[in-house]
Amino acid sequence: MDCRTKAGCSLMMCLAALLGGCAAPAPFPPVDALPASADLPDPLVMFDGSPVRTRRQWSARRAELAGLFQHYMYGTMPAPPPLRADVRFEDPSYLDGKITLREIAIGLTPDADGPTMHLLVATPNDAEGPVPCFIMPNFGGNHTLVTSEQVAIPAASAPRPRQGQEAESPASPRRGNRPGRCPIDLIVPRGYAVAVFNYREVENDDPAASRGVRTWYARHEGDAGYTWGAVAAWAWGISRGVDWLVTDPRIDPSAIISVGHSRNGKAALVAAAFDERIAMAIPNQSGCGGAGPSRTGDTVSENVEQINRVFPHWFSPVFHQFSDQPERLPFDQHCLIAMVAPRPVLLSCADQDQWANPDGQFRMLQAADKVYRLLGAEGLAADAMPPLEHLIDSPLGYWIRPGRHSLGSAEWDIYIRYADRRLAR
Ligand code: GCU
Repeated sequence: MDCRTKAGCSLMMCLAALLGGCAAPAPFPPVDALPASADLPDPLVMFDGSPVRTRRQWSARRAELAGLFQHYMYGTMPAPPPLRADVRFEDPSYLDGKITLREIAIGLTPDADGPTMHLLVATPNDAEGPVPCFIMPNFGGNHTLVTSEQVAIPAASAPRPRQGQEAESPASPRRGNRPGRCPIDLIVPRGYAVAVFNYREVENDDPAASRGVRTWYARHEGDAGYTWGAVAAWAWGISRGVDWLVTDPRIDPSAIISVGHSRNGKAALVAAAFDERIAMAIPNQSGCGGAGPSRTGDTVSENVEQINRVFPHWFSPVFHQFSDQPERLPFDQHCLIAMVAPRPVLLSCADQDQWANPDGQFRMLQAADKVYRLLGAEGLAADAMPPLEHLIDSPLGYWIRPGRHSLGSAEWDIYIRYADRRLAR
């Protein structure tokens, strides 16, 4: 990364803000000049080969990894804009008066003409003080999670119709038709807040992106040359939700947990890796580009070539150069997990979802373990993949259940158990 350019400076400011220090500018080599290695790169060895033995050295390595991941995979992203937030409504009567719902419109750009995300925040009314909070991007829109008539239905949120279903029109929204993805009625009475937003409000999920933060910043700060793909944009959106959550007296700012399913699971992990205000990450079935290795070594799970071909807009253009040579990546996804250390990370998997590579995800935890140990944390308390439905609740946590690619109440029960344990509640 080059600090002499506006892009480099902005990236450096962003890194400094997110990582609490400034990494030395590192001009990274072209992809073809990177050494190929079938083995996982050592998270405790700097890019120049020097060893990482102390916490201080790890801080430098973490900043370096943030630069490497942005340069070669997720792309560079802008510094946070100043917080512009507007509480659209507050309803303390939800679920027979047990829950307060608030909707906050958060501006995602310095000027008011850019995209806005609607954060729906549900808090328990019987809490005696600030509560921990799960923040999660959703696919279908906040209105699919609750029946409240007040929840905004932005155009960007209309979910794709399922087979045999009619497309949803703003005139006949299906309010509360998919609560299971994030069962607010079950989570909030257990003493947690929930904050959700529709991922398409931040960045649309389309190779020909025409709206969203990437387009806005390219138009208004084009000289900066941000290279972020959609996954980085969604992760960046999670951090914009956190910008508001940390100002809310009802939320414990030291107990914010990023959760996401599948592509949003990738974003939830990236957000926690880059943003230290996030206390814990729970990526569900995030697979390739998330907690699954890029060096897959099998033919069943998704690989770098497949993900770049089918979803060309998810990563930086540079990442496409690794499609046929992932072994040149100077990191693998264990390094992304290690960037969260010593904060807890729970990888949530399903045995029939081999596309998301549950075994590979477990290997990523094993390879991140040494970083947790260096920082004095327990790491992964398992020598081998656990049996189905056996929660590993160490700081590097793992859960695998029978079944397919999905997220529902059963997962949330585990997430709350894990969060209770790791937050020592
Ligand atoms: C596809 C994609 C995965 C992704 C998933 C999802 O299956 O290949 O990488 O996680 O979609 O987001 O549902």
